[in-house]
Amino acid sequence: MNHTFKANQPIGIFDSGIGGLTVARAITKLLPNEQIIYFGDTAHMPYGEKSAEAIKHYSIKIADFLKFKNCKMIVIACNTASAAAYRSVVKSTGMKDLVVNVIDPAVEYVVKNHFRQKVGVIATKRTISSNVYAKRIEALDPVSDVVQLATPLLAPMIEEGFYNNKISQTIINSYLSKSKLSKIDALILGCTHYPLIKTEIQKFYGKSVEIIDSSEIVAQHVKVVLERNLLLNELQPSRFTFGKKSQFFVSDFTQSFEETSKIFFDEKVKLKQFNIWEE
Ligand code: DGL
Repeated sequence: MNHTFKANQPIGIFDSGIGGLTVARAITKLLPNEQIIYFGDTAHMPYGEKSAEAIKHYSIKIADFLKFKNCKMIVIACNTASAAAYRSVVKSTGMKDLVVNVIDPAVEYVVKNHFRQKVGVIATKRTISSNVYAKRIEALDPVSDVVQLATPLLAPMIEEGFYNNKISQTIINSYLSKSKLSKIDALILGCTHYPLIKTEIQKFYGKSVEIIDSSEIVAQHVKVVLERNLLLNELQPSRFTFGKKSQFFVSDFTQSFEETSKIFFDEKVKLKQFNIWEE
């Protein structure tokens, strides 16, 4: 161990917007004693359409902000930023394995549970064009067959509140019917918005395909990393005396983001605008 962090410091989580709240929700459920500092870069959303260079630039700046906020760990709760900027964030923060991305835990899970099988990935255009899932799975399991499909309509559809209804099921079915995805054994939800449509995706496949929701897998991974670094906050909530609750920042506030936050977090969260690009 080579750090001076303490267990009672917060966990920093960021995403291009509010989709990463699905990861924050899974972490809060599993580790209710942890305080969260969340940053959603709503001013630059969607990252799925941006260049890798721009995403690196944004991510390094956000990680700086979370470090300034005293975070003991940084979770990149966005597949697109995990693909484009993980190594840059590790380097710029010097926080080594206390920087967690959402891709590696899902890759480890898939290699362990679907070795040498056919695995599908659905994600944003940038995540798919980075080829990150195929590269990382094939590095550990060269015999696997990884098939990837960009599904750019899904994130905006969910943000507009279209899920668990006929329209969303039709769009989901039309993507999942592509021949590329036929006969898969497992499907990775490669975007932090997608846990919201997991039931609809499962409905399309029935029980024959495992739908891999990385938000829960990432929460488990966060727990393991905190334990390994003796940074798990073990105080019971009743003895939670730090007096600080979780905080949620966005780079561009709109009322509709605040309304939509409850879709991703189960309850509406109080978003505060903080533009880290205004010097
Ligand atoms: N939440 C982002 C991800 O996981 C998708 C949204 C975006 O394109 O910014 O990739």
